[in-house]
Amino acid sequence: MIDRALRSSKIRPRSVGRRLLRSSLLEALAYPHGVDRYVELVRPLLLARDVRAEVTAVHHQTPKSVTLTLRPNENWRGFRAGQFVGVSVEVDGVRLTRPYSPAGREQSADGALELTVSTHPEGRVSRHLRDHARPGLVVDLTQAQGEFMLPSPRPQRVLLISGGSGITPVMAMLRTLCQEGFTGEIGFLNYARSPTLALYDDELATLALRHEGLRVARGFTRARRSELPGRFGREHLAAVIPDHAGAATFVCGPPALIDSVRAVWAQDGLPEPAVETFTAPVLRFDTDRAEGRVSFTASGRQVANSGLPLLEQAEDAGLAPEHGCRMGICNTCSTRKRTGSVRNVISGGVSSAGEEQIRICVSVPVGDVELDL
Ligand code: FES
Repeated sequence: MIDRALRSSKIRPRSVGRRLLRSSLLEALAYPHGVDRYVELVRPLLLARDVRAEVTAVHHQTPKSVTLTLRPNENWRGFRAGQFVGVSVEVDGVRLTRPYSPAGREQSADGALELTVSTHPEGRVSRHLRDHARPGLVVDLTQAQGEFMLPSPRPQRVLLISGGSGITPVMAMLRTLCQEGFTGEIGFLNYARSPTLALYDDELATLALRHEGLRVARGFTRARRSELPGRFGREHLAAVIPDHAGAATFVCGPPALIDSVRAVWAQDGLPEPAVETFTAPVLRFDTDRAEGRVSFTASGRQVANSGLPLLEQAEDAGLAPEHGCRMGICNTCSTRKRTGSVRNVISGGVSSAGEEQIRICVSVPVGDVELDL
């Protein structure tokens, strides 16, 4: 019925149409699927609440990456340089979500979003996007998330350090600062395995020529020749910033790079730099001492608590909860907990016993738990 109404009406995506899509009457008519599930049959980008984006350009900077330009729909609320978004695509009939940091500046003139996705052997989403993304492809997005971002007001001195695909959030920071006409000092240390795999190489060189306060140095960890020798070390800092103490520092890359930077900062008695990494965290759970029962109230199933994260317990019980990253980042697995306490397997924190949304991929029950699944 809703499908027919939309097809026959002159409703435009903006103003009246969008208010109509958000009305509680239409939402009630569309129950239980929700308005967006009907609207997407007609216009994939015209949705009441969900964020979607259409790929408008595809570019391969390196053999192991793809750079996508996206046009988000009107539900997109923008991002702060450094934040990430969850990107969902269907791969072999399964909807998968992964976090990627936009690499463009905060305020692009046309509202476009740039994502550079680097592939790795187990990366089903990244390989799918590299091999199959074409202009016209529509992907689901989450709103931007994360505390790793440029502060406002801007600091006077900024140090950016990135390794591999970790360049994307700091590239967004650098482009944003350059666009704003930042007059302070910016140091940028970037590491890649080889020149062939180095992202944004030409643009970094151009920006360094144009912006007086910007100094860039690159290290190739598996190449014979490299501007910076070997992996990150204290001695590399002098190539881009005379005095790193007091510079607002942002580090994104593999854990080994982050640990090395943290070690230098700790030796110097400096506050921790801001860090971001998208490698899977270490999940701590104990299956030997698990007790209680897990009740899945919507499906009426019950299992003895095995001590595993609730997403796995639900799957073991024959359920198929929606999920993406399985590491507590994308929020796709967010589920209503009715009763009972859970422990976060990354932070170790225990929740209250009341009703709340929890990310079931990183939550283990502490005794009896009821979940709305
Ligand atoms: S699946 Fe991404 S937060 Fe749980």
